[in-house]
Amino acid sequence: MAAKHDVVAPAVVSNGANGHHQRSSSKRTIPAVMLNSGHRMPVVGLGVWRMEKTAIRGLIHAAIREGYRHFDCAAKYQNEAEVGDALAEAFEAGLVKREDLFITTKLWNSDHGHVIEACKDSLKKLKLDYLDLYLIHFPVATRHTEIGTTASVIGEDGVLDMDTTVSLEATWRAMEELVHMGLVRSIGISNYGVFLTRDCLAYAKIKPAVNQMEIHPYFQRDSLVKFCQKHGICVTAHTPLGGSTANTKLFGSLSCLDDPVIKELADKYGKTPAQLVLRWGLQKKTAVIPKTSKVERLRENLEALDFDISEEDMEEIKAIDRNCRSNQPAKFWGIDVYS
Ligand SMILES: NC(=O)c1ccc[n+]([C@@H]2O[C@H](COP(=O)([O-])OP(=O)(O)OC[C@H]3O[C@@H](n4cnc5c(N)ncnc54)[C@H](OP(=O)(O)O)[C@@H]3O)[C@@H](O)[C@H]2O)c1
Repeated sequence: MAAKHDVVAPAVVSNGANGHHQRSSSKRTIPAVMLNSGHRMPVVGLGVWRMEKTAIRGLIHAAIREGYRHFDCAAKYQNEAEVGDALAEAFEAGLVKREDLFITTKLWNSDHGHVIEACKDSLKKLKLDYLDLYLIHFPVATRHTEIGTTASVIGEDGVLDMDTTVSLEATWRAMEELVHMGLVRSIGISNYGVFLTRDCLAYAKIKPAVNQMEIHPYFQRDSLVKFCQKHGICVTAHTPLGGSTANTKLFGSLSCLDDPVIKELADKYGKTPAQLVLRWGLQKKTAVIPKTSKVERLRENLEALDFDISEEDMEEIKAIDRNCRSNQPAKFWGIDVYS
């Protein structure tokens, strides 16, 4: 389907008010945003990066019962097969129907020259016959390794082995082909800044429906968010909790959940810091995909839909921006690809 240019940002409102009403007995209906592809995406999803393989089945089924309909996966997370098993079981048990779910997965860097095969491999693992959204995980092609291996080969110089022969335009053409083949409903980009997003808009025959990027109160990225929304690209905030303790452990990042302003405002609204931060993301008209491995937090995170932060308090949160990326791939790649 051709991209619509007049669709801008999600109108995020309280639970149900402009939502996509789904046929299920789950606890709540999560509002959805209309993408420029003509498909709807629930504004809260569950990220599955760093989810233990053995816990995935229980978490996905619990999430579906809580009302989650949007799952954010990636070939790189190396757990698509476990997600696929959990989904297949959920369909079979009548917990949810395929058409009521929104499943995203992502093309890994080493597969930019092999988009169709990589997507088919993800579909096979996820046990699906189409994806709702397929994203280019990062705007960088790296040395190809066998499909499914999602390696990040490091050269002898200790730096990520990048492939300078594959352009992002060529990768995008193949992404468009996936839509024509009926394997993918919407296509998008991830971790693209203003320069690359603008360029993508110039060569895209099918415009990117989504740009998924790190956003939280310590890394607010107002200019990029506004640029995407102005051009009809829905912004999804990955790492919407700032990665919390997981990124403190992995990257040494400072967690916005510990910020005194966040804690004070959370108290004021009778919410947890995580709920406040997710609500802030929703009020910035971004979709949020928090990850949790704790069943009780699945509901806690969805309850971000149930209140409003005043304009004055949104301004207070604006003031704590540190322009500070919490997820730092340079740790693994020997190069700061954002430099
Ligand atoms: N496109 C990309 O390049 C990219 C990059 C990074 C992430 N992502 C996507 O975005 C998703 C989310 O990012 P993320 O997992 O890195 O970071 P995140 O969702 O911001 O934070 C996850 C951390 O927050 C904790 N947490 C969850 N709910 C909480 C709550 N209510 N209170 C306190 N702590 C809470 C989790 O711990 P527990 O598990 O113990 O609850 C975990 O430590 C990923 O799963 C992935 O799908 C995409």
